[in-house]
Amino acid sequence: MTANNLKKKDLDWGNLGFSYMKTDYRFVATWKDGSWTEGETITEEMMQIHEGSPALHYGQQCFEGLKAQTAKDGRVLLFRADLNAERLSNTANRLLMPSVPKELFMKGVEETVRNNYAWIPPHGSGASLYIRPLLIGVGENLGLRPATSYEFRVFVSPVGPYYKGTGLSLISLAVTDYDRAAPRGTGYVKAGANYAGGLLSTKSAQEIGANEALYLDSAERKYLDEAGSANIVLSLKDGTIVTPKSAAILPSVTRRSIMVLAKEELGLTTEERPVELLKELTKIEEMAACGTAAVISPVGKIFVNGQWHTFYKDGKEVGPTMLKLYELLTQIQKGERQDPYGWTQEVVIS
Ligand code: PLP
Ligand code: COI
Repeated sequence: MTANNLKKKDLDWGNLGFSYMKTDYRFVATWKDGSWTEGETITEEMMQIHEGSPALHYGQQCFEGLKAQTAKDGRVLLFRADLNAERLSNTANRLLMPSVPKELFMKGVEETVRNNYAWIPPHGSGASLYIRPLLIGVGENLGLRPATSYEFRVFVSPVGPYYKGTGLSLISLAVTDYDRAAPRGTGYVKAGANYAGGLLSTKSAQEIGANEALYLDSAERKYLDEAGSANIVLSLKDGTIVTPKSAAILPSVTRRSIMVLAKEELGLTTEERPVELLKELTKIEEMAACGTAAVISPVGKIFVNGQWHTFYKDGKEVGPTMLKLYELLTQIQKGERQDPYGWTQEVVIS
């Protein structure tokens, strides 16, 4: 690490959106003939891959998303990266791709964060370093079959809030007529193809003024699944915290953490179970979308059955439960609060 690498970039950290910004280094490893290379750090952001690559034609491709944050004392912290490594491995198995060993995943993540230290937003800026690991099937191919070689890459980008606004702003969701994932399909893994199919739902949601689409289960179209890029958490009027149980949704690291915090820190009853939206709508006091990019985004209103339905205080204020959960979660992530769960892990910079 040179002194130049340690000098922070001169960015308007507080006003970053969620978009790609080219940083200096990325990590690349390749798989061929049954084994992974040890991986190397490179500067080139453009990839040269064969035009027949299964990632391009048949969507044999997947990714992960996690963040690094700067703590008050300057330490750089990852949040539950082991769960992202595990999920990438589950995704790879589902898509007949070689799984990335946890050690290689962590090496790629840590090296890329360390090498791009200058791009990690400072503590208190409200921004963080988004880490995007991806795994793609490459090489000459035409028929429908798995690739014969694979690239694992990790790049990073400093980001602000995912939805427009700052910090904890209210969002709205629109129930879409399209399905995202079938019960025995690929909804429970982070396959890029799931997202391509959702672009039209997001566009339609945005056309009626919502931030993004809200999906119902595709078998019965009755139960809540998730939002386009986040899971859903509910605070019911009886004080229970509920999250939809579904075989077709991504097992969100953020949601799993929130459920622990609600139970252990707030002493609330928590349930993971199917949620029949129309039947339970009036029981919901607060709703939030949650994920690495979304953090905890309280939902003020949803568009369902041709009309808007509002939650806490007519959808005009962030409710107290989601506010508390947001504080608990983000304080742990930023090292501002004791982490009794061992969720944060320091990336040693030099
Ligand atoms: N659901 C979908 C479809 C997502 O893309 C994401 C983002 O990763 C999530 C949920 C939230 O998952 P996590 O909290 O692990 O980021
Ligand atoms: C994340 O939250 O990490 C995601 O992958 C969501 C993505 C659509 C930005």
